[in-house]
Formats: sequence, structure tokens, C-alpha cells
Amino acid sequence: MNNFSTRLIAWQKIHGRHDLPWQDTTDPYAIWVSEIMLQQTQVAAVIGYYSKFMQRFPDIATLAHATQEEVLQYWSGLGYYSRARNLHHAAQTIVDMYNGEFPHDFDTIQTLSGIGRSTAAAIASFAFNQVQTILDGNVKRVLARHFLVEGWPSNPRVEKQLWIIAEELLPEQDMVDYTQGLMDLGATVCTRSKPKCGVCPVQQTCKAYQMDRVKDLPTPRPRKTIPEKNTMMLILQRGDEIMLEKRPSSGIWGGLWSFPEVEKQEEIEGLLTQKYQFSTHGGQALPTLSHTFTHFKLHIQPQLLQIIKIHSQVGEAGQIWLSVDDAIGAAVPTPVRKLLMSLKREPTV
Ligand code: ADE
Repeated sequence: MNNFSTRLIAWQKIHGRHDLPWQDTTDPYAIWVSEIMLQQTQVAAVIGYYSKFMQRFPDIATLAHATQEEVLQYWSGLGYYSRARNLHHAAQTIVDMYNGEFPHDFDTIQTLSGIGRSTAAAIASFAFNQVQTILDGNVKRVLARHFLVEGWPSNPRVEKQLWIIAEELLPEQDMVDYTQGLMDLGATVCTRSKPKCGVCPVQQTCKAYQMDRVKDLPTPRPRKTIPEKNTMMLILQRGDEIMLEKRPSSGIWGGLWSFPEVEKQEEIEGLLTQKYQFSTHGGQALPTLSHTFTHFKLHIQPQLLQIIKIHSQVGEAGQIWLSVDDAIGAAVPTPVRKLLMSLKREPTV
């Protein structure tokens, strides 16, 4: 075995993490759920969600037969909801096509919704002890430093180079400790800021360390100013309830509950009278809330309106009236939950 993997495995056994809730199992389903939750999300934020999710959906069939609404509810607050929709969809595929059993074949695993090459490798190595390499953001950082790979690691050319390096490093055995070691090194030692090179098991061979370039690597994403968008969210209040609408299943926050939106103040009147047939009074502007997505920044201007009359008794499908507390517990996006929390502090609700 090569020096890098030997040292990493030895280090993981002593200094790595051993008591994460998804580590005492080889159930591919339990591992799969954890890997999806851990994409773009830190361990500390995942742990609580993971145990509740696994209690409610303990196996593939239970998840496949649940409604999307309920799956999203268990995901609510974790963000990146397409992860939950893909997980649900893939569970249905496994039931329909693979008799409910998680596939073992590496290429087949990657055909499931939401499972890319690195996630497939994590599942295959943890659950089936297969020799496959992961390459998530943390691992890219470790390898970019150790082998002094310049360029933004998600640039396709750089990424290709990192995959080749990662594959060459694979050990022949101890895949679970090796894969976990890569993750743990990136998360606890070779961190983005203030890396702890003094305790790194592969410091001796780290090119960035030798050349005092650790702080320059990985090369940051080329700066692009991300577009900014504005929206007004209408918080329609009737007694102590507020109205939420289900968003279309594609696009941001697909399938989640949110407030009705308009682009400009002048559109509010028309929307209320024509679409909803509500008479309102009030119109209190609440403080603007900004939310940054990967590709754009959204500035939300909330307007609180009291409904005084509903002219049509026919409620539209996809609308619900809930108390603020119930709305906070529903499948709502994070900025909507923040707004709802701020309403609890407002004397009007
Ligand atoms: N990040 C991604 N997968 C992980 C895992 N299995 N353990 C800890 N952190 C992770």
C-alpha cells in the first residue's frame, strides 16, 4: 500500500470519528440517507434530522410509500430540498426495479436519482467494502494541498486530475477506515481555514506544506458577481392563521409551502382581488430578509396584510391556513421559517 493511505488508515483508527450515528451499520439504506444529508451540510446540523428521519422511514419500502409532502417535512430546515425529492424518487425506483434491495453494482448505484460518483463511492465502500474513491469538497481540498494541484477544484479539468490522483491512492483493503479517514482529515485537520498541519498524518509528504502554500490552496472559485433578485412575500393573516401556498414541484423550493409572492407593490391589489378574492387592510412592511443561494441572492420584502373578507368560499387547491406554530412545523423553506419566527415576536399575530 502507498504511504498516504497507510498513514491515513492508521490515523483514522486512532484519531478519526467513530461514533457518528451512521457508522455502526453496513445497511446501505442508512448509509445512503446519511451521505445525502451530509452533502453541503455539516455533521452537527445533520445528526438530529438523521435520527428523526430514520425513525420515521426505517427502510427503503417505508420511504418509497410515504408522500412527498411528509418526506419534505422531515427535511424541512436542512435546505437543498431536491436532495429529499431525489431520495424519495430513488427509493421508489429501488422498490420498482430492484425488488426493494439497494443495488450493489457501482454503475447501477450511480443511476439512482441524486447519487453522483462520489456519493456512490461512499455508499459502496461503507456498505459493501468496495474499493471506490470519494471526491467531495473536503477531499478535493486535501488532495489539492497534498499534491499541489492548482486551479479551482470544481473546474472540470482540475476535477479530472483530482479523480485520477484519488484513484491512484486507493488501498487494497481497509476501505471503510480509508474512506472515513479522508472525510475526517478534511473535516477536522485539513480544514479550509486554520488547518492543523502540526497533527496531520500526511504532513511529511504534503507539497503545499513543504512549499508554504497551504493557505493558497485550494484555489478559490473564480469570482463572479451573483445576480440579485427581489420579491415581495404576502403574509395574509386571518384571525390567528396565515395562508401558505404549495410551490410548483420544480424550481426553487419545489413542493414546499410558502407565502404568495409578487414582484412589485403595485401588483398586490390585483392579486388579492382577482386571484384570491380577498379584501384586506393593513399592509405593514416587515424588515427585508436576504437569502443567498449558490447562484443568486434573494431579497425578500415581507408585507403583512389582514384579511377582512373572503369573497369566494371555494379555497384553491394548494392553499392552506395554519397557525404560525403549525406553519413553522410544516415543510417550509428556511427564509419562510425565519419570517414565521419573526411573526411570533410581532404583537399583531
Ligand atoms: N461527510 C460526508 N459523509 C460523511 C460521513 N460518512 N461521515 C462524516 N462526514 C461525512
